[in-house]
Amino acid sequence: MTDGHAARTARTGRKPTLAVVGATGAVGTVMLEILSQREDVWGEIRLVASPRSAGRKLTVRGEEVEVVALSEEAFEGVDVAMFDVPDEVSARWAPIAAAKGAVAVDNSGAFRMDPDVPLVVPEVNAHAARMRPRGIISNPNCTTLSMIVAMGALHAEFGLSELIVSSYQAASGAGKDGVDTLRAQLAAVVGTELGTQPGDVRRAVGDTTGPFPAPLALNVVPWAGSLKEDGWSSEELKVRNESRKILGLPDLRVTATCVRVPVITTHSLTVHARFENEVTVDQAHEILANAPGVVLFDNPAEGEFPTPADVVGTDPTWVGRVRRSLDDPNALELFVCGDNLRKGAALNTAQIAEVVAAELTAP
Ligand SMILES: NC(=O)c1ccc[n+]([C@@H]2O[C@H](COP(=O)([O-])OP(=O)(O)OC[C@H]3O[C@@H](n4cnc5c(N)ncnc54)[C@H](OP(=O)(O)O)[C@@H]3O)[C@@H](O)[C@H]2O)c1
Repeated sequence: MTDGHAARTARTGRKPTLAVVGATGAVGTVMLEILSQREDVWGEIRLVASPRSAGRKLTVRGEEVEVVALSEEAFEGVDVAMFDVPDEVSARWAPIAAAKGAVAVDNSGAFRMDPDVPLVVPEVNAHAARMRPRGIISNPNCTTLSMIVAMGALHAEFGLSELIVSSYQAASGAGKDGVDTLRAQLAAVVGTELGTQPGDVRRAVGDTTGPFPAPLALNVVPWAGSLKEDGWSSEELKVRNESRKILGLPDLRVTATCVRVPVITTHSLTVHARFENEVTVDQAHEILANAPGVVLFDNPAEGEFPTPADVVGTDPTWVGRVRRSLDDPNALELFVCGDNLRKGAALNTAQIAEVVAAELTAP
Protein backbone atom coordinates (compact mmCIF):
# COMPACT_ATOMS: atom_id res chain seq x y z
CA MET A 1 0.00 0.00 0.00
CA THR A 2 1.11 3.62 0.12
CA ASP A 3 2.81 3.43 3.52
CA GLY A 4 5.43 6.19 3.59
CA HIS A 5 8.26 4.47 5.45
CA ALA A 6 7.71 1.10 3.77
CA ALA A 7 9.87 1.65 0.71
CA ARG A 8 12.63 3.23 2.79
CA THR A 9 12.60 0.40 5.33
CA ALA A 10 12.90 -2.22 2.60
CA ARG A 11 15.63 -0.22 0.82
CA THR A 12 17.82 0.34 3.83
CA GLY A 13 17.35 -3.14 5.28
CA ARG A 14 16.96 -1.62 8.75
CA LYS A 15 14.58 -3.09 11.29
CA PRO A 16 11.28 -1.17 11.44
CA THR A 17 10.55 1.32 14.22
CA LEU A 18 7.51 0.54 16.37
CA ALA A 19 5.45 2.93 18.51
CA VAL A 20 3.26 1.49 21.28
CA VAL A 21 0.60 4.09 22.04
CA GLY A 22 -1.12 3.35 25.37
CA ALA A 23 1.96 1.54 26.74
CA THR A 24 0.89 2.19 30.36
CA GLY A 25 -2.61 0.62 30.15
CA ALA A 26 -3.91 -2.92 30.82
CA VAL A 27 -3.35 -3.99 27.21
CA GLY A 28 -0.17 -1.92 26.83
CA THR A 29 1.42 -3.60 29.87
CA VAL A 30 0.82 -7.06 28.40
CA MET A 31 2.05 -5.76 25.03
CA LEU A 32 5.43 -4.88 26.55
CA GLU A 33 5.70 -8.41 28.00
CA ILE A 34 4.77 -9.95 24.64
CA LEU A 35 7.25 -7.78 22.73
CA SER A 36 9.92 -8.95 25.18
CA GLN A 37 9.04 -12.63 24.63
CA ARG A 38 8.55 -12.85 20.85
CA GLU A 39 11.18 -12.92 18.12
CA ASP A 40 12.57 -9.40 18.00
CA VAL A 41 11.72 -7.96 14.59
CA TRP A 42 11.83 -4.32 15.73
CA GLY A 43 14.50 -1.65 15.70
CA GLU A 44 13.53 1.16 18.07
CA ILE A 45 10.43 0.62 20.23
CA ARG A 46 8.96 3.97 21.27
CA LEU A 47 6.53 4.04 24.21
CA VAL A 48 3.73 6.61 24.09
CA ALA A 49 0.91 7.45 26.54
CA SER A 50 -0.96 10.50 27.80
CA PRO A 51 0.96 13.53 29.12
CA ARG A 52 0.16 12.16 32.62
CA SER A 53 2.65 9.34 32.04
CA ALA A 54 5.36 11.24 30.15
CA GLY A 55 8.76 10.63 31.75
CA ARG A 56 7.75 7.31 33.39
CA LYS A 57 10.19 4.50 32.67
CA LEU A 58 8.88 1.10 31.54
CA THR A 59 10.79 -2.05 30.69
CA VAL A 60 10.62 -3.66 27.26
CA ARG A 61 13.10 -6.23 25.85
CA GLY A 62 14.95 -5.97 29.19
CA GLU A 63 15.66 -2.24 28.72
CA GLU A 64 14.18 0.78 30.45
CA VAL A 65 12.47 3.11 28.00
CA GLU A 66 11.06 6.54 28.85
CA VAL A 67 7.40 7.13 27.98
CA VAL A 68 6.73 10.12 25.72
CA ALA A 69 3.48 12.08 25.49
CA LEU A 70 1.24 11.50 22.49
CA SER A 71 1.97 14.17 19.85
CA GLU A 72 2.59 14.37 16.10
CA GLU A 73 6.35 14.30 16.75
CA ALA A 74 5.98 10.96 18.54
CA PHE A 75 5.34 9.36 15.10
CA GLU A 76 8.46 10.83 13.46
CA GLY A 77 10.27 7.94 11.69
CA VAL A 78 7.78 5.34 12.97
CA ASP A 79 6.95 2.45 10.59
CA VAL A 80 4.22 0.71 12.64
CA ALA A 81 2.16 2.38 15.38
CA MET A 82 0.06 0.21 17.69
CA PHE A 83 -2.84 1.91 19.45
CA ASP A 84 -3.95 0.47 22.81
CA VAL A 85 -5.96 3.52 23.88
CA PRO A 86 -9.65 4.50 24.24
CA ASP A 87 -11.74 4.73 21.05
CA GLU A 88 -11.75 8.52 20.86
CA VAL A 89 -7.95 8.72 21.18
CA SER A 90 -7.49 6.19 18.36
CA ALA A 91 -10.13 7.89 16.22
CA ARG A 92 -8.13 11.12 16.36
CA TRP A 93 -4.55 9.85 16.33
CA ALA A 94 -4.43 6.71 14.15
CA PRO A 95 -5.11 8.77 10.98
CA ILE A 96 -2.39 11.22 12.08
CA ALA A 97 0.10 8.35 12.48
CA ALA A 98 -0.93 7.04 9.03
CA ALA A 99 -0.51 10.52 7.52
CA LYS A 100 2.99 10.62 9.03
CA GLY A 101 3.85 7.44 7.08
CA ALA A 102 3.26 4.71 9.69
CA VAL A 103 0.93 1.73 9.40
CA ALA A 104 -1.50 2.04 12.33
CA VAL A 105 -2.63 -1.17 14.05
CA ASP A 106 -5.57 -0.22 16.23
CA ASN A 107 -6.88 -2.18 19.18
CA SER A 108 -9.84 0.12 19.88
CA GLY A 109 -13.33 -0.07 18.42
CA ALA A 110 -12.88 3.13 16.38
CA PHE A 111 -12.31 1.61 12.91
CA ARG A 112 -13.34 -2.05 13.12
CA MET A 113 -16.41 -1.78 10.93
CA ASP A 114 -14.96 0.80 8.51
CA PRO A 115 -15.09 -0.90 5.07
CA ASP A 116 -11.70 0.67 4.24
CA VAL A 117 -10.05 -0.82 7.33
CA PRO A 118 -9.30 -4.56 7.41
CA LEU A 119 -10.16 -6.46 10.62
CA VAL A 120 -7.44 -9.04 10.97
CA VAL A 121 -6.80 -12.29 12.85
CA PRO A 122 -3.58 -13.65 11.31
CA GLU A 123 -4.56 -17.35 11.67
CA VAL A 124 -7.84 -16.65 9.81
CA ASN A 125 -7.38 -13.77 7.33
CA ALA A 126 -3.75 -12.54 7.34
CA HIS A 127 -4.11 -11.69 3.61
CA ALA A 128 -6.61 -8.92 4.51
CA ALA A 129 -3.84 -6.90 6.23
CA ARG A 130 -2.39 -5.89 2.82
CA MET A 131 -5.56 -4.07 1.74
CA ARG A 132 -5.45 -0.95 3.94
CA PRO A 133 -6.44 2.13 1.93
CA ARG A 134 -6.45 4.30 5.09
CA GLY A 135 -3.12 2.95 6.34
CA ILE A 136 -5.00 1.51 9.34
CA ILE A 137 -5.57 -2.14 10.33
CA SER A 138 -8.02 -3.02 13.12
CA ASN A 139 -7.71 -5.62 15.83
CA PRO A 140 -11.02 -7.30 16.79
CA ASN A 141 -12.77 -7.02 20.14
CA CYS A 142 -11.52 -9.41 22.84
CA THR A 143 -14.75 -11.42 23.02
CA THR A 144 -14.79 -12.13 19.29
CA LEU A 145 -11.07 -12.88 19.34
CA SER A 146 -11.41 -15.36 22.20
CA MET A 147 -13.32 -17.78 19.93
CA ILE A 148 -12.67 -16.80 16.31
CA VAL A 149 -9.47 -18.78 15.67
CA ALA A 150 -11.26 -22.02 16.61
CA MET A 151 -14.38 -21.01 14.66
CA GLY A 152 -12.29 -20.12 11.60
CA ALA A 153 -10.69 -23.58 11.62
CA LEU A 154 -14.08 -25.35 11.89
CA HIS A 155 -15.59 -23.05 9.24
CA ALA A 156 -12.84 -23.92 6.76
CA GLU A 157 -13.86 -27.59 7.00
CA PHE A 158 -17.63 -27.60 7.59
CA GLY A 159 -18.92 -24.17 6.42
CA LEU A 160 -20.35 -22.15 9.30
CA SER A 161 -24.01 -21.08 9.07
CA GLU A 162 -24.87 -19.92 12.60
CA LEU A 163 -23.28 -19.03 15.94
CA ILE A 164 -25.16 -18.79 19.24
CA VAL A 165 -22.76 -17.54 21.89
CA SER A 166 -22.84 -16.81 25.62
CA SER A 167 -19.78 -15.10 27.05
CA TYR A 168 -18.35 -15.23 30.56
CA GLN A 169 -16.13 -12.15 30.46
CA ALA A 170 -13.32 -11.19 32.81
CA ALA A 171 -13.02 -7.91 34.70
CA SER A 172 -9.84 -6.86 32.82
CA GLY A 173 -11.94 -6.61 29.65
CA ALA A 174 -12.96 -3.27 31.20
CA GLY A 175 -9.31 -2.17 31.56
CA LYS A 176 -7.28 -1.43 34.68
CA ASP A 177 -10.33 0.15 36.31
CA GLY A 178 -12.20 -3.17 35.95
CA VAL A 179 -9.42 -5.14 37.64
CA ASP A 180 -9.02 -2.60 40.47
CA THR A 181 -12.79 -2.65 41.06
CA LEU A 182 -13.03 -6.45 41.26
CA ARG A 183 -10.01 -6.69 43.59
CA ALA A 184 -11.47 -4.01 45.91
CA GLN A 185 -14.83 -5.81 45.97
CA LEU A 186 -13.21 -9.19 46.66
CA ALA A 187 -11.36 -7.61 49.61
CA ALA A 188 -14.70 -6.28 50.92
CA VAL A 189 -16.44 -9.69 50.86
CA VAL A 190 -13.66 -12.10 51.78
CA GLY A 191 -14.19 -13.86 55.11
CA THR A 192 -17.79 -12.65 55.43
CA GLU A 193 -21.10 -14.51 55.21
CA LEU A 194 -22.24 -12.18 52.40
CA GLY A 195 -24.15 -13.56 49.45
CA THR A 196 -27.08 -14.98 51.42
CA GLN A 197 -29.54 -12.05 51.56
CA PRO A 198 -30.93 -9.85 48.77
CA GLY A 199 -28.73 -6.77 48.38
CA ASP A 200 -26.14 -7.72 51.04
CA VAL A 201 -23.23 -7.75 48.54
CA ARG A 202 -24.46 -4.50 46.98
CA ARG A 203 -24.48 -2.80 50.39
CA ALA A 204 -21.01 -4.13 51.25
CA VAL A 205 -19.35 -2.85 48.07
CA GLY A 206 -21.24 0.46 48.23
CA ASP A 207 -20.39 2.83 45.41
CA THR A 208 -17.38 0.84 44.23
CA THR A 209 -19.03 -0.80 41.21
CA GLY A 210 -16.50 0.95 38.91
CA PRO A 211 -17.14 0.25 35.23
CA PHE A 212 -19.74 -2.45 36.04
CA PRO A 213 -23.47 -1.79 36.49
CA ALA A 214 -23.73 -4.15 39.52
CA PRO A 215 -21.37 -5.76 42.05
CA LEU A 216 -19.11 -8.32 40.38
CA ALA A 217 -17.72 -10.13 43.45
CA LEU A 218 -19.92 -13.16 44.35
CA ASN A 219 -22.06 -12.31 41.33
CA VAL A 220 -22.53 -12.52 37.55
CA VAL A 221 -23.64 -9.46 35.60
CA PRO A 222 -25.51 -9.92 32.30
CA TRP A 223 -24.06 -6.78 30.77
CA ALA A 224 -20.90 -5.63 28.96
CA GLY A 225 -20.57 -2.46 26.90
CA SER A 226 -23.15 0.24 26.21
CA LEU A 227 -26.88 0.05 25.47
CA LYS A 228 -27.80 -0.20 21.79
CA GLU A 229 -31.15 -0.49 19.98
CA ASP A 230 -33.74 -3.04 21.14
CA GLY A 231 -31.90 -3.93 24.34
CA TRP A 232 -28.70 -5.29 22.76
CA SER A 233 -25.34 -4.36 24.28
CA SER A 234 -22.52 -2.95 22.15
CA GLU A 235 -20.42 -6.00 23.06
CA GLU A 236 -23.09 -8.39 21.73
CA LEU A 237 -23.32 -6.50 18.44
CA LYS A 238 -19.53 -6.49 18.13
CA VAL A 239 -19.43 -10.29 18.36
CA ARG A 240 -21.96 -10.49 15.53
CA ASN A 241 -20.55 -7.81 13.21
CA GLU A 242 -16.89 -8.62 13.72
CA SER A 243 -17.33 -12.40 13.31
CA ARG A 244 -19.08 -11.75 10.00
CA LYS A 245 -16.33 -9.40 8.77
CA ILE A 246 -13.37 -11.59 9.80
CA LEU A 247 -14.86 -14.78 8.35
CA GLY A 248 -16.07 -12.98 5.20
CA LEU A 249 -19.64 -14.18 5.86
CA PRO A 250 -21.83 -11.04 5.77
CA ASP A 251 -25.04 -13.02 6.29
CA LEU A 252 -23.83 -15.34 9.07
CA ARG A 253 -26.53 -15.75 11.72
CA VAL A 254 -24.99 -14.70 15.06
CA THR A 255 -26.63 -14.22 18.45
CA ALA A 256 -24.61 -13.32 21.54
CA THR A 257 -25.42 -12.75 25.20
CA CYS A 258 -22.48 -11.16 27.01
CA VAL A 259 -22.05 -11.71 30.74
CA ARG A 260 -19.37 -10.41 33.13
CA VAL A 261 -18.05 -12.87 35.73
CA PRO A 262 -15.71 -12.39 38.73
CA VAL A 263 -12.57 -13.52 36.89
CA ILE A 264 -9.56 -11.18 36.63
CA THR A 265 -8.38 -12.14 33.12
CA THR A 266 -9.50 -14.69 30.45
CA HIS A 267 -12.80 -14.66 28.69
CA SER A 268 -14.79 -17.89 28.30
CA LEU A 269 -17.59 -18.60 25.84
CA THR A 270 -20.11 -21.34 25.27
CA VAL A 271 -20.69 -21.67 21.54
CA HIS A 272 -23.46 -23.42 19.60
CA ALA A 273 -21.99 -23.55 16.09
CA ARG A 274 -24.18 -24.74 13.21
CA PHE A 275 -22.62 -25.80 9.90
CA GLU A 276 -23.70 -26.41 6.29
CA ASN A 277 -22.60 -30.03 6.62
CA GLU A 278 -22.98 -32.81 9.17
CA VAL A 279 -20.27 -32.88 11.81
CA THR A 280 -18.86 -35.45 14.16
CA VAL A 281 -16.96 -34.90 17.39
CA ASP A 282 -14.05 -36.96 16.05
CA GLN A 283 -13.70 -34.74 12.98
CA ALA A 284 -14.00 -31.59 15.08
CA HIS A 285 -11.36 -32.91 17.49
CA GLU A 286 -8.97 -33.61 14.63
CA ILE A 287 -9.43 -30.13 13.11
CA LEU A 288 -9.07 -28.35 16.44
CA ALA A 289 -6.08 -30.44 17.52
CA ASN A 290 -4.25 -29.44 14.30
CA ALA A 291 -5.34 -25.80 14.06
CA PRO A 292 -2.51 -23.28 14.65
CA GLY A 293 -3.18 -21.20 17.75
CA VAL A 294 -5.71 -23.69 19.20
CA VAL A 295 -5.27 -26.19 22.03
CA LEU A 296 -7.83 -28.97 22.30
CA PHE A 297 -8.28 -29.92 25.98
CA ASP A 298 -11.31 -32.16 26.05
CA ASN A 299 -11.43 -35.15 28.33
CA PRO A 300 -14.23 -34.61 30.85
CA ALA A 301 -13.84 -38.16 32.22
CA GLU A 302 -10.49 -36.98 33.62
CA GLY A 303 -11.83 -33.53 34.57
CA GLU A 304 -9.97 -32.03 31.60
CA PHE A 305 -11.52 -28.90 30.13
CA PRO A 306 -10.23 -25.33 29.96
CA THR A 307 -10.96 -22.90 32.79
CA PRO A 308 -9.89 -19.25 33.01
CA ALA A 309 -7.75 -19.92 36.09
CA ASP A 310 -5.61 -22.35 34.07
CA VAL A 311 -5.66 -20.53 30.73
CA VAL A 312 -4.72 -17.03 31.96
CA GLY A 313 -1.27 -15.93 30.80
CA THR A 314 -1.18 -18.34 27.84
CA ASP A 315 -1.37 -17.51 24.15
CA PRO A 316 -3.68 -20.06 22.47
CA THR A 317 -7.44 -20.43 22.24
CA TRP A 318 -8.35 -23.41 24.42
CA VAL A 319 -11.32 -25.60 23.45
CA GLY A 320 -13.10 -28.30 25.45
CA ARG A 321 -16.53 -29.85 26.05
CA VAL A 322 -16.94 -30.55 22.32
CA ARG A 323 -20.29 -32.27 21.77
CA ARG A 324 -22.56 -32.83 18.78
CA SER A 325 -25.95 -31.22 19.42
CA LEU A 326 -28.44 -33.86 20.47
CA ASP A 327 -31.14 -32.53 18.14
CA ASP A 328 -29.04 -31.33 15.21
CA PRO A 329 -26.34 -33.41 13.45
CA ASN A 330 -25.00 -30.21 11.81
CA ALA A 331 -24.24 -28.44 15.09
CA LEU A 332 -21.54 -28.54 17.76
CA GLU A 333 -21.52 -27.28 21.35
CA LEU A 334 -18.14 -26.07 22.63
CA PHE A 335 -16.56 -24.30 25.60
CA VAL A 336 -13.76 -21.90 24.63
CA CYS A 337 -11.32 -19.90 26.80
CA GLY A 338 -8.82 -17.24 25.70
CA ASP A 339 -6.72 -14.72 27.62
CA ASN A 340 -8.45 -11.45 26.73
CA LEU A 341 -5.30 -9.40 27.23
CA ARG A 342 -3.07 -11.73 25.18
CA LYS A 343 -4.78 -13.26 22.10
CA GLY A 344 -7.82 -11.11 22.91
CA ALA A 345 -5.83 -7.91 22.55
CA ALA A 346 -2.05 -7.49 22.74
CA LEU A 347 -0.90 -10.75 21.12
CA ASN A 348 -3.16 -10.42 18.08
CA THR A 349 -2.05 -6.80 17.64
CA ALA A 350 1.59 -7.88 17.89
CA GLN A 351 0.97 -10.65 15.33
CA ILE A 352 -0.63 -8.16 12.91
CA ALA A 353 2.28 -5.75 13.41
CA GLU A 354 4.72 -8.60 12.66
CA VAL A 355 2.82 -9.40 9.42
CA VAL A 356 3.27 -5.73 8.43
CA ALA A 357 6.95 -5.71 9.52
CA ALA A 358 7.61 -8.76 7.33
CA GLU A 359 5.95 -7.00 4.42
CA LEU A 360 7.90 -3.76 4.99
CA THR A 361 11.25 -5.53 5.18
CA ALA A 362 10.62 -8.00 2.31
CA PRO A 363 13.30 -7.56 -0.37
N1 LIG B 1 -8.90 -4.84 28.17
C1 LIG B 1 -9.17 -5.67 27.18
O1 LIG B 1 -9.44 -6.89 27.35
C2 LIG B 1 -9.19 -5.16 25.77
C3 LIG B 1 -9.25 -6.09 24.76
C4 LIG B 1 -9.26 -5.66 23.43
C5 LIG B 1 -9.21 -4.32 23.16
N2 LIG B 1 -9.15 -3.42 24.16
C6 LIG B 1 -9.09 -2.00 23.79
O2 LIG B 1 -7.75 -1.55 23.97
C7 LIG B 1 -7.76 -0.16 24.32
C8 LIG B 1 -7.00 0.01 25.64
O3 LIG B 1 -7.70 -0.71 26.65
P1 LIG B 1 -7.10 -0.94 28.11
O4 LIG B 1 -8.01 -1.95 28.71
O5 LIG B 1 -5.64 -1.19 28.07
O6 LIG B 1 -7.36 0.52 28.77
P2 LIG B 1 -6.64 1.21 30.01
O7 LIG B 1 -6.08 0.20 30.94
O8 LIG B 1 -7.61 2.21 30.53
O9 LIG B 1 -5.39 2.00 29.34
C9 LIG B 1 -5.60 3.12 28.49
C10 LIG B 1 -4.26 3.61 27.88
O10 LIG B 1 -4.55 4.72 27.02
C11 LIG B 1 -3.76 5.84 27.40
N3 LIG B 1 -4.51 7.06 27.16
C12 LIG B 1 -5.72 7.40 27.65
N4 LIG B 1 -6.08 8.63 27.21
C13 LIG B 1 -5.06 9.07 26.44
C14 LIG B 1 -4.81 10.26 25.72
N5 LIG B 1 -5.69 11.27 25.70
N6 LIG B 1 -3.65 10.38 25.04
C15 LIG B 1 -2.74 9.39 25.06
N7 LIG B 1 -2.91 8.22 25.72
C16 LIG B 1 -4.05 8.08 26.42
C17 LIG B 1 -3.48 5.64 28.86
O11 LIG B 1 -2.35 6.39 29.21
P3 LIG B 1 -2.16 6.96 30.73
O12 LIG B 1 -1.74 5.78 31.57
O13 LIG B 1 -1.07 7.96 30.54
O14 LIG B 1 -3.48 7.52 31.13
C18 LIG B 1 -3.25 4.12 28.90
O15 LIG B 1 -1.95 3.84 28.44
C19 LIG B 1 -9.25 0.25 24.41
O16 LIG B 1 -9.65 0.81 23.17
C20 LIG B 1 -9.94 -1.08 24.63
O17 LIG B 1 -11.28 -1.06 24.17
C21 LIG B 1 -9.11 -3.79 25.47
